[in-house]
Formats: sequence, C-alpha cells, structure tokens
Amino acid sequence: MSQSWDALKDHQAAVDGRSILDLFADGRRAEEFSASVDGMIFDYAKTNIDRRGRALLVELATRAGVAEKRDAMFAGAKINETEGRAVLHTALRNMDTSLVVDGQDVAGPLRDTYARMRRFAEDVRTGRFTGQGGKITDVVNIGIGGSDLGPAMAVLALAPFHDGPRCHFISNVDGAHAADILRGLNPETTLVIVASKTFTTIETMTNAETVRAWMARAVAEPATQFAAVSTAADKTAAFGIASERVFGFEDWVGGRYSMWGPIGLSLMLAVGPDDFAEFLRGGASMDAHFRTAPFAENLPVLLALVGIWHNQFCGYATRAVLPYDQRLSRLPAYLQQLEMESNGKRVAMDGSDLPYHSGPVVWGEPGTNGQHAFYQLIHQGTRVVPCEFLVAKRGHEPDLAHQHLLLVANCLAQSEALLRGRSLAQATEIMAKKGLTGAELERQARHRVFPGNRPSTTLAYEQLTPFVLGQIIALYEHRVFVEGAILGLNSYDQWGVELGKELALALQPVLEGKAGTEGKDGSTAQLAAWFRS
Ligand code: F6P
Repeated sequence: MSQSWDALKDHQAAVDGRSILDLFADGRRAEEFSASVDGMIFDYAKTNIDRRGRALLVELATRAGVAEKRDAMFAGAKINETEGRAVLHTALRNMDTSLVVDGQDVAGPLRDTYARMRRFAEDVRTGRFTGQGGKITDVVNIGIGGSDLGPAMAVLALAPFHDGPRCHFISNVDGAHAADILRGLNPETTLVIVASKTFTTIETMTNAETVRAWMARAVAEPATQFAAVSTAADKTAAFGIASERVFGFEDWVGGRYSMWGPIGLSLMLAVGPDDFAEFLRGGASMDAHFRTAPFAENLPVLLALVGIWHNQFCGYATRAVLPYDQRLSRLPAYLQQLEMESNGKRVAMDGSDLPYHSGPVVWGEPGTNGQHAFYQLIHQGTRVVPCEFLVAKRGHEPDLAHQHLLLVANCLAQSEALLRGRSLAQATEIMAKKGLTGAELERQARHRVFPGNRPSTTLAYEQLTPFVLGQIIALYEHRVFVEGAILGLNSYDQWGVELGKELALALQPVLEGKAGTEGKDGSTAQLAAWFRS
C-alpha cells in the first residue's frame, strides 16, 4: 500500500494548482468522472482527480484490501477488533438473507423483532394501542448520538410521508431540551420511547426519569406509555418497561449505524411500516451496488476516494456537506457522528500510531441558508474547503416548482462559481463599468476576485423518498467504511468519548459541594469554584 501512497503523493505534487476547468477541454470529463446507480448520479468532475489519479486511488483501495475487508464485514467477521464484535448493521436491511454469527443464524430473530416493531407501530398508528387519554398523538424519542441523530434526521427528511403521530426528540442533558419539547404536549396521549443501546447513557437515563416524572403527574401508570429500544433487556425491565414494548438488537449493530432497526421505531411510527420498508430497500440496494460494482464505478468507493484524495493528499482538513434540500438539514449533524466518531482515530487497528491524518472535520448546513452565512469563506478564504452538494431533481411541492428550480439553480451555481472563480481582469472590468478608475479601481477589484479552482462534488437524486434516503444513508455508511479500511483504523469503536464521560461523573460531586477540587488543574478548579459560589 505504501507504494500507492507514495505514487499518489508524487502525482498530487505534480498536478497541484493546475486548472480543474482546463480538464474539461476534452469534452468527455463530465461523463467520465461521474457514476450512477438506481436513479442517482455522483459527479466528481469538478475535482483535480484525473484518469491517472483515479487509477492510483483505485489501486490504493485495492492494495488496502477494501474488497476483502468489505466481504468480511458482510459475512459477519469480527472486524471491530477492539470490542471483539462483528459489524452487521447491513443485516437489518437484508433480513431475507440468512447470516450466521457465532454459529447462529441471526436473520430469523431479526425478522421476528422487525415483525413486532411493525405490529406495534400499526397498533399505535391505528389507535389499537392507546394512552390514558386515547389515541397516541405524539411520540417522544429519548436518546442521544446514534440513538437520536439518525431517526431525528430521517423523520425530518421524510416529512411528506408522515401520516402517523408527531415525533419529537429529546437528547441533550440540558433540562431546557426536555422542558421545551414537553411544553405543549399532552402526557395522556404521548408515547415515550427510551432509545439507548446500552441503557446506561447518563443523558438518556436522566431525561427518561424527567419525562417519567412529567407523565406521572397526569397518567396513573406512566410505564404503560413507555417503550424501549435497547440491547440491554435486564435494564429496560429494571426501568419498568413491559417486555412486549421492548425492542432489542444485538451488540454487532453500532449505535451510529443503528437506525435501520428498532432505533428507527420513531421513524416507523411517523411514516408507517411500508415506507420504513422502502427505506430499508433503498439501503439494501446500495449494499448490493457496493458489493458488486467495480471500484471505479462504485459510489461509496468513489466518495471515499475523493475524500481520501482531498484530506490525505491535498491536505484539506475539513469537508462541507451542503444539502440543497431543507429536509436534509440534520444530515450534516448525522454525518458528523457517522464520520467523525468512526474515523476520528489516531491509532491503527494494531495500536500503532496512524502514519496519516485521521478523517476530516465534517460540517455543513443546508443551501441556500449556508450561502448567506459561511460561503464567503468557502469562496474567498485562504483555506480550501472541499464541498459536497446534494440536491433532488424534484421537490414534493408541485405548486412551488418554481422555488425548487431556483434551489437547483443556486446549487449548480455554487459549484460552478467554486470551479470557475472570477479573475482580477474580470473583476476590474466589472468595477470599471461602474465608473471606478486608478488605484481605487484596483483596490475594489481585488476584493471582488474569486480564486476559483476549488473542488466540489454533487450527488443528485430524483426525489427525497424513503427509498432514496435509504440509498443516501447506506452510501455514506459505506464511504466511511472504505475510508477507514484504507487508513487501517477501526471505524467501529469510539474510545475517544470515554474520558470526558468519566471526568463529568467525577465533577458532579465537586459541583454539588460533596467533594473538593484536589487533583484538578487550576483552571478546572477555578471554574468549579465559580459555579459553586
Ligand atoms: O457517547 C458515544 C455513544 O456511545 C455513541 O456511540 C452512541 O451512539 C451514543 O453514545 C448513545 O449510546 P446509547 O445508545 O448506548 O445510549
């Protein structure tokens, strides 16, 4: 692999700074540097990757054993080596295929849980399951990280498909979150889902207690309006939730990969079991593509290779995810966990220091809002930020088609502007037409120069349906896998979140005045004292 790495470094040095726009001169680039699957197109022509660069990147992936590692993951090998676990979230969307883990076929139990989820969702949606005040009108999902970001993102994304109870999400341990969500809800017609893989996460358990107390003030037996989603059946029972409303899953489903199974219960309640099944079908179709398409036509592999090129070889430390789709406004937050908790690691699988940078910082906001906020820096700042645009061909509001057209025009215009830029000569001409001359003309023109030559990719799809959302999420999951496999790290653990949790537990008694600040650094001791005073 180091041979490919060195060749890519040399190649990047050789092509650095050349005009990406000039690469289009042969007239074939756009077609050659894009790939499609099932009505979705990924265009990476507006990057500085050329044929040789792509060949070298594909070779890098091949030498890194991406295909072998991918097959091992799908087969249930324990590729999460630091936790001794398989990585099988893909099984949740491919339940018709038998899969043996630790000598047991897991597909049957997955189908059983899925059938129970469907029944429960139907019961709630039709009013067979009621709260003390009758039919359930609202669902509150209490969870954090993977037990929140996925379903919260997807419930918002699929708003046009909602025909069930309204779904709300409480994640932050900040009591303001619970207070603001609960205000206006009727406890008698609210169903609460406590979603936690471990059922020990302090934020979730604290919020669960708060919401139970809120409900107990109005409902005689609050536990009857609680459901749970967890791998820890003993803990859900201890919390008092009856087993018929507990939906379990296995530890080989990572938190940030778990929205395909019971963690997606809130989504299923909102859109119904059939649309949820469509979401799974979309994910499964991306799995099939990932497993079979040659690397140079494989969307997850291509996304990963563009990411590796920008982060590792061009040295761009962040990437912006810019959905021109208001309903994907939580996608960047969802991807922050998916990508940064997965590939933000400083050691390789064997514990040795990673000889490369870890994955990039991922951030973003929906267009066009971002245009009026941070695009200034993207266009004229001194650092390059590779941008990933997402946009649908059609919206869901036929009477607002003119607005959708404007949205698409803005999306395409931004990637064009990043590519093309505006030269000093062009800026000078514009300002001269406004009547400026001499030194003032030059000064004003220089402020209006866009360097251009800034890379971006565009993922375009027909319409944001449950199937397409499934495709998009599985695409990003596999992209993370490929990037992690190339870097040789474990994308499926998250030890980096532990230290802060431990220290927070230790600081609680300090803030309560039950323990002193011995052993604390001066700054932490001072701040703790200030809060106590
Ligand atoms: O703090 C990190 C984390 O463990 C995530 O990986 C996970 O998604 C989140 O906390 C929530 O965990 P749980 O579902 O066990 O409550």
